[in-house]
Amino acid sequence: MRVLNHLFERNSHWAAGIKQADPDFFLKLSKQQKPEYLWIGCSDSRVPANQIVDLLPGEIFVHRNIANLVIHTDLNCLSVLQYAVEVLRIRHIIVCGHYGCGGIKAALEGGEHGLIDNWLRHIRDICRLHRARLEATADDREKFDLLCELNVREQVINICHTTIVRNAWSSGMELAVHGWIYSIGNGILKDLDLCTTGPEEVERLYAIS
Ligand code: CO
Repeated sequence: MRVLNHLFERNSHWAAGIKQADPDFFLKLSKQQKPEYLWIGCSDSRVPANQIVDLLPGEIFVHRNIANLVIHTDLNCLSVLQYAVEVLRIRHIIVCGHYGCGGIKAALEGGEHGLIDNWLRHIRDICRLHRARLEATADDREKFDLLCELNVREQVINICHTTIVRNAWSSGMELAVHGWIYSIGNGILKDLDLCTTGPEEVERLYAIS
């Protein structure tokens, strides 16, 4: 019960497999990390960042929380963002939502879930912001999918408004913020065409219907 032996066994097989393909892989990685991407995704176990985009350790910097939210006062997320942009100098920030997100569903349906309701409150705010559009969508499934997509857009906007990203842009750094959504049902990513590469492009995000 205390020792999860099967996980240690899986780990040694995994490490041996990588070393077989590249004997120096871990030695090289231990000296530095130089990822090009920051991934902000949902904690959902079915949405693992590295595997979805088929990247090895060292290639993507990751922050995950319930419903892939970027909250203006969340020191955890902001610290990841600052480190990724200012120290690692990543070039792309990817907000990746997913259809069928339990956090989005709970926010859409209401009800009480305890402490997490304080976190889901941010998604309820998005519902309020896009009430007309959501109310005009009669089909429950479509409404759920739409809110998953709208949530990605709002988080892209939130990232673009952080001092970290604004300072990076004003200093001339090349930095793109992307909004994607993943389908658990078929393993396929979709680009929501929210790519923003400078402050003058942020207004466009508000105008997308
Ligand atoms: Co989710």
